[in-house]
Amino acid sequence: MKEKILTMLRESPEPLSGEEISRRLQVSRVAIWKQIGQLKESGTEIEAGPKGYRLLSLPEVPFPWLFGERSSRMHYYPEVDSTMNRATALAREGCPAYTVVVADRQTTGRGRLQRLWQSEEGGLYFSLILRPSLVPREAPVVNFAVALALVETLAECCGIAAQVKWPNDVLVDDCKIAGILSQLEIEADQIAFVNVGIGLNLNNRPEIADKPAVSALQLTGRRVNRALLLADFLDRFERQMAVFSRSAIIAGWKAKTVTLGRRVKIVTIRDSCEGLAVDMDEDGGLILEMADGSHHTVFYGDCFHSS
Ligand code: BTN
Repeated sequence: MKEKILTMLRESPEPLSGEEISRRLQVSRVAIWKQIGQLKESGTEIEAGPKGYRLLSLPEVPFPWLFGERSSRMHYYPEVDSTMNRATALAREGCPAYTVVVADRQTTGRGRLQRLWQSEEGGLYFSLILRPSLVPREAPVVNFAVALALVETLAECCGIAAQVKWPNDVLVDDCKIAGILSQLEIEADQIAFVNVGIGLNLNNRPEIADKPAVSALQLTGRRVNRALLLADFLDRFERQMAVFSRSAIIAGWKAKTVTLGRRVKIVTIRDSCEGLAVDMDEDGGLILEMADGSHHTVFYGDCFHSS
């Protein structure tokens, strides 16, 4: 009921009386009064004046009831080990596509290449369960779509001009503001699900570990409403996936990347190689021009820019 009350208050230019809300929802005024009390307790600012209730601000904690029609697919935790673990369990149980697991903190947040992802209060940590109709080879394009939607969301919600780095980083002036980790499960040669985990430095102050990192708060000096930013991202990403075009995603990614045209070193657990990043192919492989002029495509690894 909370999301319905919030939707009404958000859409109403005038204060709404308890009587009017109870009439529209067909529940008692006492029930409305209780729900309003709970909304206030969880950080929603609602002014109760002589003409009724007026919404002043929404909480920044991503409570499911803030997400309207999406609320039944939102799973919020103040703290988890890793949102990826919950997402895997939900996906295997058959949850619908676009189910989201979001947490305020993670005790063992996972990064790419078996690193730990710092997950202190203030950041946004979530996993998105997707069931795209793609063959497994095409799955990486989903990560590029996520990176692009993140860049657009940061521009729209924070006025931050971010760029993308192959394979899955979102950077501002060479400092990492977001990381993406994905996990693919295949059944009978088809994608059963892709879980995309996103860690976004918003109101936290990330420590510089192996690579420089930065948060929206450090860049702008302003705190961001994490719940509103997440809703903006999910709307944007779902719209993009509804008109899914691999070539458009790859072209959009190339327009926003800092990797192409740079000399790079790609390091994997097994080996490394260096070359000039000249292009990205339609499956997301990075095409390197090697010292002898030959072309070599890499599909995963850590990418270091050297010029
Ligand atoms: C990277 O190394 O750049 C990827 C970082 C991905 C971190 C996110 S936070 C939400 C989700 N849960 C995790 O444990 N990891 C991902």
